[in-house]
Amino acid sequence: MKAADIREKFLKFFESKGHTIVRSSSLVPGNDPTLLFVNSGMVQFKDVFLGTESRPYSRATTSQRSVRAGGKHNDLENVGYTARHHTFFEMLGNFSFGDYFKRDAIHYCWELLTKVYGLPADKLTVTVYQEDDEAFAIWENEIGVPKERIIRIGDNKGARYASDNFWTMGDTGPCGPCSEVFYDHGPEVWGGPPGSPEEDGDRFIEIWNLVFMQFNRDVQGNMTKLPKQSVDTGMGLERLAAVLQHVHSNYEIELFQTLIKAAARETATADLTNNSLKVIADH
Ligand code: GLY
Repeated sequence: MKAADIREKFLKFFESKGHTIVRSSSLVPGNDPTLLFVNSGMVQFKDVFLGTESRPYSRATTSQRSVRAGGKHNDLENVGYTARHHTFFEMLGNFSFGDYFKRDAIHYCWELLTKVYGLPADKLTVTVYQEDDEAFAIWENEIGVPKERIIRIGDNKGARYASDNFWTMGDTGPCGPCSEVFYDHGPEVWGGPPGSPEEDGDRFIEIWNLVFMQFNRDVQGNMTKLPKQSVDTGMGLERLAAVLQHVHSNYEIELFQTLIKAAARETATADLTNNSLKVIADH
């Protein structure tokens, strides 16, 4: 499935669930001095989560152009070392502004992944924040994920709420515990499940993050409750494309291959016979 079809299926799925399709915002946030670049889909909705802006809808879905090359979410140091990081990417997301919360967010996620995209359930592993018994119970009892494949992740980054499963936009802003979905690319790829010593490998790839927005963090680090519990999700289009195109690296998806081949052709650095990429000169 091509990236364009993956994107369209995502947006249409959430539209069928009552979400308004909203355009990607500019990469440079319009009114947010705390970020240089938009780093996720929720940035254009920050003030809606905070309750200082209202929109004519309480459910939205986007495919947001994002950059992670600095600040709190910085992928730059990983580029070239993993199969899944690149600083510019598109983030597919669905958002609830005081409308649905954990239960519907998890059910929508599972329905889209397993029914619409047809991913085998036994290739999926999920994580929840250590203290989030509610999300754990929804995954186990309502979705039917075996409890061995629901992993609790606590504060593993040296401070309260500093965790892979507690998402914050930046040093300040809306935040909350999250639940992530990982796809297992298989034993031929090095890596281990989340929380294991080999978690940084490319075998188990995080494809979707469901954030249960509940707090606003201020400059002193104080957390105050948001006016309404909300949902912010983010799924990397390129990572999902790798899964659905049966390749193990984002750079092998059709989007990037087209660009890489065009660049190679223009610079004559590769042998493109048989549609394969073989570098012929060291430029
Ligand atoms: N805002 C959710 C994420 O970026 O993972």
